[in-house]
Order: sequence, then C-alpha cells, then structure tokens
Amino acid sequence: MNSATHIAIIMDGNGRWAELQGKKRVKGHEAGAKVVKNITTFCSNHPDIERLTLYAFSTENWKRPRLEVEFLMKLLNSYLKNELPVYLKNNVRFEPIGDVRAFSKQLQKTIKIVQEDTAHCDGLVQSLALNYGSQDEILRAMNKLKNTEGEITQEMFSNTLDCKYNVDLLIRTGGDHRLSNYLLWQAAYAELFFTDTLWPDFTPQDLEKIIKKFTKVERRFGGLK
Ligand code: FPP
Repeated sequence: MNSATHIAIIMDGNGRWAELQGKKRVKGHEAGAKVVKNITTFCSNHPDIERLTLYAFSTENWKRPRLEVEFLMKLLNSYLKNELPVYLKNNVRFEPIGDVRAFSKQLQKTIKIVQEDTAHCDGLVQSLALNYGSQDEILRAMNKLKNTEGEITQEMFSNTLDCKYNVDLLIRTGGDHRLSNYLLWQAAYAELFFTDTLWPDFTPQDLEKIIKKFTKVERRFGGLK
C-alpha cells in the first residue's frame, strides 16, 4: 500500500466560489484561507502525512488586479500571525518555498518569524508556496550551481531546490487539469488527482477519500510489477 507522505495541493476555485454566491472574488480567498487551516490541522493529525505543500501565490499571480494582490498579501500576513499558536499547538513546522524577496518587508518579517518560531516542531511540515513558480525555482537553483566544479548530480540539484522532497500525491481542486508551473521536478512520479470541487468547498473528508484511492494505486516508478 502506498503512503501519502508528501501531499501537494493546487488550491483553485476561490474566485468562482465567491462569484457563484454573488460575492466579491476576495471573499473566496478569505473562505479559502479557512480551508487551508482545516486541511493543515487534518494533515497534522494524520499518521502517514509528513509534508503538505500548498500553492498560495504563484510567480504569475502578480498579473491579477492590484487590489486582489494587495488583499492576498494582507490575508497571508494575518493568516500566518493568527496561525502561529496553532502551528505550535499542533507541532507543525512552517517552511515556505518560493522567492519571498518580492514581498513587502513586513510580510517577509512575518514569514521569517513563523519559520523561526516553528523550526523546532517535528510533526507535519507545512510549506506554503509563496511567489513560487517551478521554472523560477529551477533557474534559481541552476544559478546557484553554475560555478560548481564537475558534474551536477540529481541529488545535488534536488538539494538546491526550494522544495527538496518528491511529491507522492498532487491534488488540484477547481476542475482544471494542469500543473500551472507547480513542483514540476518534485512531481516526477506523483499520482495526480483532479477534482471539480472548488477550494473553499474542499473538506478533510474529500482529502481522506482521495488518500484512500491513492493508497490502492500501483506505483511502479518506471519499473515492472
Ligand atoms: C486560486 O483561486 C487561488 C489562489 C490565487 C491561491 C490560493 C489562495 C488561498 C487559498 C487563500 C489564501 C491562502 C492562505 C495561505 C492564507 P482563483 O482565484 O484562481 O479561483 P478561480 O480560478 O475561481 O478564479
């Protein structure tokens, strides 16, 4: 049986969820943040899950209207501040991935505080992908390695990426079937699950069902049975 050790999620559908209810798009992000909280708590109590990596803001999301970007930045900041005691209570270590240098000094400071204050936690690792894009991550790794003498090995390359761990199960909510520049290297052998459920409607029970299906899938990693 497979173990869903590292789960990655593309949390899509916040805007549509809000629009369906006649609300502004940002209300969908607010509802989405509550789901981040619930899913993280569920994963922190799950015996098999070691890592949860959530796509919170992509390198492409800067193209959204200025007010929506500003709202997302404020939401991230308040989410992290409010969640710090919850991370500590649930023994969750927070490890951001992505190039956070593009964020405001204030948000960078909050990210650093939560990362440092939870560094000793040895339960679930929750990574938020923040100003993250796989192509950007790979390019930054290549630039870090460009003066390396000799051949670059797969292990050296993996260890230079922001996210150094293979993904077992990659889920996308919101109905689209694409990877959107997310963990392209790390998802090389991931099982992919797509659901039409919009992120604000996604529940721990939905995740549990996907994990159950995943545990039964035969993974061959390029080999034979
Ligand atoms: C996609 O919905 C969602 C995002 C832009 C990123 C995810 C953001 C959240 C879950 C909220 C904040 C997160 C944290 C950690 C506080 P969309 O707007 O693309 O939805 P649409 O496809 O329906 O327009």
